[in-house]
Amino acid sequence: MNALSQHPLPGHFLDIDSLSDDHIHSILNMAAQLDTATPPPLLKGRTVAIVFYEASTRTRVSFELAAKRLGAEVVLIQGAASSATKGESLRDTMHTLAAMNIDILVLRHPQSHTVAELAAIAPPGLKIINAGDGTHAHPSQALLDALTVQRNGGKVRDAVLTIAGDIRHSRVARSNIALWQRLRVKEIRLAGPEQFLPDPLPEGPIKVFHKLDSALPGSDVVMMLRIQRERMSGISLPDNDNYHRHWGLGVERLALTPEHCQILHPGPINRNIEIASEVADGPRSLILEQVSNGVFVRMAILALMANQVQNAP
Ligand code: CP
Repeated sequence: MNALSQHPLPGHFLDIDSLSDDHIHSILNMAAQLDTATPPPLLKGRTVAIVFYEASTRTRVSFELAAKRLGAEVVLIQGAASSATKGESLRDTMHTLAAMNIDILVLRHPQSHTVAELAAIAPPGLKIINAGDGTHAHPSQALLDALTVQRNGGKVRDAVLTIAGDIRHSRVARSNIALWQRLRVKEIRLAGPEQFLPDPLPEGPIKVFHKLDSALPGSDVVMMLRIQRERMSGISLPDNDNYHRHWGLGVERLALTPEHCQILHPGPINRNIEIASEVADGPRSLILEQVSNGVFVRMAILALMANQVQNAP
């Protein structure tokens, strides 16, 4: 595989809007090709720092595995165990890592737009990847979601995508709404309680549903989202049983969807709140395939990003 034959990524990997159509297709194509027992050492001689100021299981581990499988040296930094706790600024942390010849910085941060602000002042040769920032963007998650649908015989182009639950606080929803429109989705249905609907609504072929039962018929893909309690304040939250009754995807509601409808959830799932265990573990669920594809998508992003790194080995 020759990464150089693909479209190298722009300076940093920040959000879907900063990617061209060629970049998006290169990532999706390359990710599928990298699902192999012996991926080529496209990151040999590179060093990747994975810096997370927020909890994560899937994204952090998959970036680590992706970088290691492509031959990179990897360092992990958890915000709570870093010198940020001693007052070091994020900018100084970045320059400290760059001084140790880090090539790529994978960053998760609880504040929206912090990753882009840091990228704007990054030293030459250091490339930054957004692994999720506040409610703003989680572009690698959207790419792995689309790849998972495609690799399981589903369609993104001309599809009806339903996103249900806490959309307002979801960077995953925001990145998927942007990506699926770029991939020519037919319709995106947003279903959730009023306080969880985005305000303002995104532009595009968007329809809002105030009942999940109304959104499900005719959906090709349903993406369930958890209530992101860590990103909200001053909102009265329904109790879990009540929420599940009105907004949870159980087997009865699943029966409202067409038989080919695929079920996604970015994780972590809250069983029997936004999704019943029978559905999460059932044959229509692609949740664990999303996790597997996350490694391949992140390998592709890192490899295409490495082509941009100036201090090549
Ligand atoms: N989907 C996702 O970002 O999961 P983590 O928070 O576990 O990385």
